[in-house]
Amino acid sequence: MLFPLLLSLVVCAAASFTLPTRLVLQSPTGLFLENLAVRPNGKLLITSPESSTLHMLDPTAENPTFDEVHTFPNVTLFGIAEIQPDIYGIIAFVLNVTTLSAVPGTIAIWRMDLSSGGPTVVNKAADVPDGMFLDGLAAVPGEPDLVLGADTAAGRVWQINLRTGVVRIAAQDDAFAPGAPPPAFGINGLHVRGGDLYFTNSQKKTFSRVPISVRGGNVAQGGPIQVLGSANGTDEFDDFAFDSAGRVWAATLPNTLTLFFPPAQGNGMRGQLNAQGSPVEFDSPTSAAFGRGGVAQQHTLYVTTQAGQLIAIDTTGIRV
Ligand SMILES: *[C@@H]1O[C@H](CO)[C@@H](O)[C@H](O)[C@H]1NC(C)=O
Ligand SMILES: *[C@@H]1O[C@H](CO)[C@@H](O)[C@H](O)[C@H]1NC(C)=O
Ligand SMILES: *[C@@H]1O[C@H](CO)[C@@H](O)[C@H](O)[C@H]1NC(C)=O
Repeated sequence: MLFPLLLSLVVCAAASFTLPTRLVLQSPTGLFLENLAVRPNGKLLITSPESSTLHMLDPTAENPTFDEVHTFPNVTLFGIAEIQPDIYGIIAFVLNVTTLSAVPGTIAIWRMDLSSGGPTVVNKAADVPDGMFLDGLAAVPGEPDLVLGADTAAGRVWQINLRTGVVRIAAQDDAFAPGAPPPAFGINGLHVRGGDLYFTNSQKKTFSRVPISVRGGNVAQGGPIQVLGSANGTDEFDDFAFDSAGRVWAATLPNTLTLFFPPAQGNGMRGQLNAQGSPVEFDSPTSAAFGRGGVAQQHTLYVTTQAGQLIAIDTTGIRV
């Protein structure tokens, strides 16, 4: 009877993958790195909720430097998303570090244009006066002026038009809300792919998707929310990235990345990346994005962490 028992254990246990990792940067001050976007030229734009300055780094440089791109007075930075080639939306607000919430009335989405190659053009595109805590930001394919902002405290998805400044609620659902009062985080990372909005809910430990419709420049929920996978124990999902095969690599507190392969229902979870014992270990990962440029860059996943790490993972060897 031993064999069937072992077999069932093997079937239930989450797989663990070990892939080559490299520490690209360790912030000397341990700056909390929150979110990143990869420019068409391969350079990384990195936000921090502890800094007013957007930074840029060339991950292919031998000794990468953490360069200043732009400073946004009095606010710090959260989600960033590319809406058109080398044009970005960025969430900025005044963070109350005592309550870990936004100071009411300070949330805005900025538009930053790096596409000219000349001076950086930055303007405040819209205030989100009724926002509570906008965390992740996503572009909407086919809608070059729209972003969706994850209001992690209110359990809402805001739609912001970065050209007209119009702000509206695109979706609101209990599945977006945290299951506990602030500072619990609900919807956190979000990305649109193939007519679906994929999102994590940190406090509820879920990775989910929901069909959306885009009509007349407005995004709306188009069907029921489907939970694709859950975290266990102390694990919590933050932002995530799709690879070219459609797998999802979700930054997972406190020390791993969780791999999903939608559209499998329920058991889309494929395993976790455990860099324990490898030269670099993840310390509270926050977001992930694939490199751009040659084939090697496209298979390199860049991960930011709360402890100020930028880690490169060579995902070429993944076989699920
Ligand atoms: C930044 O905050 C300071 C102090 O509260 C204030 O005097 C200043 O006007 C603010 N600047 C901007 C650009 O909001
Ligand atoms: C942060 O929140 C605390 C508790 O509500 C409050 O006393 C404080 O004034 C807030 N700080 C700012 C900058 O709003
Ligand atoms: C969490 O536990 C459930 C039930 O055992 C399992 O199906 C799921 O894959 C686990 N999730 C992770 C991320 O390990």
